[in-house]
Amino acid sequence: MAEQRIVLYGDPVLREKAAPVDDIDQEVKDLVSNMVDTLKMNHGLGLAAPQVGVLKRVFIVDLSSVDLNETVRVFINPEILTTSKEKVELEEGCLSFPGIYQSIVRPAGVRVRATGLDGQQFELGLGGLTARAVLHENDHLNGVLFIDHISPFARTLLRGKLKRLAAAS
Ligand code: NI
Repeated sequence: MAEQRIVLYGDPVLREKAAPVDDIDQEVKDLVSNMVDTLKMNHGLGLAAPQVGVLKRVFIVDLSSVDLNETVRVFINPEILTTSKEKVELEEGCLSFPGIYQSIVRPAGVRVRATGLDGQQFELGLGGLTARAVLHENDHLNGVLFIDHISPFARTLLRGKLKRLAAAS
């Protein structure tokens, strides 16, 4: 098991845009394997490569702790094809924001295309928590964080906590 250090809010790498993966080589395979270990050890539902300091378009989602039918899903070079008009509000957390949870409104469903670790491209229509996790993690690849989706008022309430987190990172 190789656990990587999770980058916390305040580190500028979280605001960078990640670059596409050209080749699923050993380095990418090792990255994913380490991310899977890191996610499990931190009991998270999803993790994007920038959160371990790697600016590559890779994220993983693991909802097996809340849904027995789920397993680790790997998304390389993901593209959000469509999102549903219907929106839902759900509480979200993020491993880069320990202890911070916020109600976020996002589309209820998403259609995503990505490449798997086997190099095969796949396309999925997702709903529920999986859609939510995919949208959250995909944002990380564009330097977008979940706090960007909350109201200015909610952000004001969080200001102190965010400042302390950024100072500690
Ligand atoms: Ni996150």
